[in-house]
Amino acid sequence: MSKVLYIKANPKSKEDSYTFQMSESFLDEYKKANPEDEIITLDLYQEDIKPLTEEMIGELFTEENSKIRRYVKQFAAADKYIIAAPMWNLSIPSILKVYIDYIVVAGITFKYTEEGPVGLLKDKKVAYLAARGGKYSEGPAQDFEMGERYLRTILGFMGITDFSTVATELTNVLEGEELEKSVGASIEEAKRVAKEF
Ligand SMILES: Cc1cc2nc3c(=O)[nH]c(=O)nc-3n(C[C@H](O)[C@H](O)[C@H](O)COP(=O)(O)O)c2cc1C
Repeated sequence: MSKVLYIKANPKSKEDSYTFQMSESFLDEYKKANPEDEIITLDLYQEDIKPLTEEMIGELFTEENSKIRRYVKQFAAADKYIIAAPMWNLSIPSILKVYIDYIVVAGITFKYTEEGPVGLLKDKKVAYLAARGGKYSEGPAQDFEMGERYLRTILGFMGITDFSTVATELTNVLEGEELEKSVGASIEEAKRVAKEF
């Protein structure tokens, strides 16, 4: 039985979010294939997520039982992660970056060694679902994409290298039937990835 952490980083409802339409379809399909698994939903907009203050940094790094440490403990205890986060300003919503500041903690998710930092999370996997207004998976804007690149890098830093992305693109460009078709294909792709996840 796996423990799955479903991290939601969008203030919108499912009806208004292509990201959530993909991630909820992913989750439904995943549950069908893995009915015994424990799914923990972490909706960042329902949490007390604030940029780190000096006091919070102290608590995070030195106070074993501080409230803020519960996030990194929860993260480290999961086996699989589903991250639902739209593209915002070429990257991820800032609330997700703040959450990442809570979970990259020396001694829990990585450690320093003489050869450099080493990730402590092993045998875990991530599915990242994102809607993007434009096209970044190929073409002239490819190098502008920094959300997926950042998540792959920071999760890899913690030892998580099994990383799948399902992105629906051009949500701000396509219209009507074309948009529906494109999002529909991404939802099907999300379901396909979920079955194997
Ligand atoms: C604050 C904000 C920033 C955005 N920045 C970008 C961007 O840099 N590039 C882009 O292609 N689309 C951008 N978009 C458009 C979204 O990626 C697009 O609308 C996507 O469908 C949002 O996902 P959602 O439907 O799950 O909310 C931005 C949207 C918002 C609200």
